[in-house]
Amino acid sequence: MSEMTRGYSPLSKWLHWIMAGFVLSIIPVGLTMTRLPSGKLQDSLFELHESFGATILTLACLRVAVRLIRGVPEPYASLALWQRLAAEITHRVLYALIFIVPLLGWAGASAFGAPISVYGLFTLPPILAVDKRLAGTLFSVHMAAAYLISAVVAVHIGAALLHGFIHRDGVLARMLPNGWGDWLMAVGRPGRRRGQRST
Ligand code: HEM
Ligand code: HEM
Repeated sequence: MSEMTRGYSPLSKWLHWIMAGFVLSIIPVGLTMTRLPSGKLQDSLFELHESFGATILTLACLRVAVRLIRGVPEPYASLALWQRLAAEITHRVLYALIFIVPLLGWAGASAFGAPISVYGLFTLPPILAVDKRLAGTLFSVHMAAAYLISAVVAVHIGAALLHGFIHRDGVLARMLPNGWGDWLMAVGRPGRRRGQRST
C-alpha cells in the first residue's frame, strides 16, 4: 500500500461503505413509500425502511465505537485549512444525523403506535407512549432531518469525487479498499495517462 492511500483501517472502510449503501438506499425507499397508495407494497416498503433505519442506527453505534477505540487518520496533508474545517464540520454533522434521523423515525413510529418490525425477525420496543399529534410533529421533523442528511451527503459525495477525479489527491483513495486506492492514484499520474508505465 502506498503512503498516499494509507488511511482508514479496513474495519472503518467496511463500516463506511456499508453505511453509505444503506443511507443511499433508505432515502429513495422513504420518498417512494410515502407517495404510494395504502396497500401491500406500501406496507412492505415501510417495513424495509424501518429495518434499514434500525440497521443504520446499529452501524452508527459501531462506527463511533471503532472511531473512539482506533482513532482516525490525520486530515489529509495537502488540504488547506478551510478544506480541513469544511471536512471536519461535514463529518460531524453526518455523524450526528445518522443517530438523529433514525431516532426521530423510531420516536415517530412509537408515538403513532405502529409496530416497528426489523426484517420480520423481531419488533423494536416503543420509545414513546402513543400520541398521534406528537407523532405528526415527529414525522415532520424526521422528514426535514432526512432532507438535511440527503443534502449533506450530496455535498460529501461531490467533494469526494472532486478530490478523487479532478484534484487527484489521496482523499478518496484513503477511504477505498487498498487496491482500488492505489489504482486511483496510479491512473491520476500524468505518465500513466500518456500510456507510460508508472514507477
Ligand atoms: C438514516 C435513517 C433514515 C432516513 C435517511 C430516513 C428517511 C426518510 C425519508 C426520506 C422519508 C420520506 C419523507 C417524505 O415523505 O418526503 C421518511 C419517512 C418516514 N420514515 Fe424514515 N428515515 C430513516 C430512518 C427511519 C426509522 C429508523 C424509522 C422508524 C423506525 C423511520 C420511519 C419513517 C416513517 C414512519 C416515515 C413516514 C412518515 C410520514 O408518514 O410522514 N425512518 N424517512
Ligand atoms: C458514494 C458515497 C460516498 C463517498 C464517495 C464517500 C467518501 C468518503 C471519503 C473519501 C471519506 C474520507 C475523507 C477524509 O479522509 O477526509 C469519507 C469519510 C466519511 N464519510 Fe463518506 N462517502 C460516501 C457516502 C457517505 C455516507 C452516505 C455517509 C453517511 C451518511 C458518509 C459518512 C462519512 C463520515 C462520517 C466520514 C468521516 C469518517 C471519519 O473520519 O471518522 N459517507 N467519505
